Amino acid sequence: MKNSHVVVVGGGVVGVTLGCVLSRFLNVTVYDRDDQRIQRWLLCSPPFYEPGLAELVDGSSVAFTSSANCLDSADIVILCINYSVESDLRDTLHLISSECTTKSHRIIVDKSTLPLNTSQRIKHFFNNHHSHFDILSIPEFLSQGTAIRDCLSPSRVLIGCDTSESGIAAQNTLIDVYAQWVPRSKILTQNIWSTELSKLASNALLAQRISSINSFTAICDATNANIGQLTQSLATDTRIGSDYLHPSVGFGGSCFEKDLKMLIYLCESLDLVLVAEYWKGVLAMNDYQLQRFVRRVQDTINGVEHPHVAVLGLSFKKDTGDVRLSPSVRIIKDLLAQHNTVRFTVCDPAVTEMQTMNEFDGCKRVHYCHGIAEAVNQSHCLLLLTNWPEYHTQIDWTAVYDSMHEPRWVLDGHSIVDVEKLISLGFNVYQVGH
Ligand code: UGA
Repeated sequence: MKNSHVVVVGGGVVGVTLGCVLSRFLNVTVYDRDDQRIQRWLLCSPPFYEPGLAELVDGSSVAFTSSANCLDSADIVILCINYSVESDLRDTLHLISSECTTKSHRIIVDKSTLPLNTSQRIKHFFNNHHSHFDILSIPEFLSQGTAIRDCLSPSRVLIGCDTSESGIAAQNTLIDVYAQWVPRSKILTQNIWSTELSKLASNALLAQRISSINSFTAICDATNANIGQLTQSLATDTRIGSDYLHPSVGFGGSCFEKDLKMLIYLCESLDLVLVAEYWKGVLAMNDYQLQRFVRRVQDTINGVEHPHVAVLGLSFKKDTGDVRLSPSVRIIKDLLAQHNTVRFTVCDPAVTEMQTMNEFDGCKRVHYCHGIAEAVNQSHCLLLLTNWPEYHTQIDWTAVYDSMHEPRWVLDGHSIVDVEKLISLGFNVYQVGH
């Protein structure tokens, strides 16, 4: 195993983080067909923001290439691709099949979150071309923003295989690989259906907790109850715990919604109508939470002639510059569609001006700013839409008050501000569930 060559397919956060960690023990190449992306990694200038990843790459022996001929010498190929369309997966499989010609046996590891049964389909594909490929499913549980920590200290590693002799031998090889940095007790072996469903189940339950707590914010908003006090009570119940109970404008990102939709699709295809409806409710609650917030913003700007709204935070969560399915972007787009004259000044510590222009198709009513002071200047209303730590600690609220115009609304989607303090300064404040 020591001299094995591993090729990681996909130069995104999962592929590069795993590649760097694996390169401590094995000979690793990260392959991505996007040469610009590879050039960025070769220069240690990551194409996206992930804390600590540039340093990890810099200190690692991982090789980067956009040349697919690295695949032929691979003993293990690890798929870490965010497949948005079916043809992407097919292209990758055809590429592997045409490049991998010389060795008699290889292991293909599927780490991408794909529709259930994909590993089985990959197996059939290679069976038709090369009967000597073993397919394993090792779902990835890392989160953007904490990728390195999650990869180095995972709560568990699931390794799924079929029950053939060579499948189990391949599973044992990967157990040995992971056991070099993960305690053996945290490496769980399963059948492939279980590993694939475990990944969906984990994301579905986390999303369900967020929708559950957000449903309570609606009740708090309609009564005198306070979501902070409620979560304090829930978090101290050791059976429930505090994780994924932070009230918000809804969950975003490329994973939860996609995985819930895959789960719903699976339930429907199995004719499990009530189960599908149950998970649809989690998505519906997320949408409802976002729309509630949009209505609040509309209420605050309705009386203003040319409303100017400042937005702090565009990424779908802190510590990432990823805006895919970001609640912040959705809220701005909804308001642009519903209100002819509203304009936005936006800022985010990790989202670039170019990203913002692309996201809003160059819309003239969305202006990118390089910091909080510029964004809030002369605005009527301020939205806090991403839970960045600097929004908790680095906002000079007296200066913000002086630079804003009446009616000086602050709408806080992430329980960031001290509501009583802001009211005492003269702001109008809405905080989700407060
Ligand atoms: C999620 C899972 O947490 C990872 O385990 C999984 O590997 C990953 O999806 C994936 O499938 O690839 P990620 O989407 O990076 O990771 O982000 P999370 O930190 O889970 O946050 C997702 C969304 O939920 C964010 O919009 C966040 O603001 C929101 N959230 C999170 C809340 O609204 N409240 C919370 O209490 C926690």
